[in-house]
Amino acid sequence: MSKPFIMDHPLIQHKVTLLRDKNTGSKEFRELINEVAMLMCYEATRDMPVKEVEIETPICITKSKVISGRKVAFIPILRAGLGMLDGMLKLVPAAKVGHIGLYRDPQTHLPVEYYCKLPNDINERDIIVLDPMLATGGSAIDAIDRLKEYGCGNIKFVCIIAAPEGLEAMARKHPDVQVYCGALDEKLNDHKYIVPGLGDAGDRIYGTK
Ligand code: URA
Repeated sequence: MSKPFIMDHPLIQHKVTLLRDKNTGSKEFRELINEVAMLMCYEATRDMPVKEVEIETPICITKSKVISGRKVAFIPILRAGLGMLDGMLKLVPAAKVGHIGLYRDPQTHLPVEYYCKLPNDINERDIIVLDPMLATGGSAIDAIDRLKEYGCGNIKFVCIIAAPEGLEAMARKHPDVQVYCGALDEKLNDHKYIVPGLGDAGDRIYGTK
């Protein structure tokens, strides 16, 4: 099992603090989510293979590196995961995007799938699943179950805040999936919200509630 990668870069810590602040409005919240996502994308793609190609600079012919290997697909879990997508695509603009829609049943707290649309060549791509909050892990685990049914192999999960409960559940069910998070919080409360967390990420991104 790979350990979660907790990204404690000062810029991420600073932006996560602003995200947590209940006085941060939707516009700023959305921008911050994308900025943190972009910084996390930088780290989550660190192991991308590169190959050497020959190019000509204005000065001479030289060898230089470009990304090689499998192409990438981002899979935002609807709806809050969408908030991270633009930040990710800024760094990997050629990535394809699949969408998986899950909501938490308010009674059972279990995820219910209502939408799934993936690129045709999804099983040939490296996958980065996006959801800002890893709470119980239910949605993330279900989304990754689904991706594995489609034959997906190299899967990473990027969230902004994780609860220990979610990390444990993910490690139990999908030990092959590397998790990246911007902060590891204390616990879940009785309503399965992350404490201290930042509240409902989807509501704060879209100004609903
Ligand atoms: N989803 C959220 O948006 N926030 C939480 O704290 C937990 C799940």
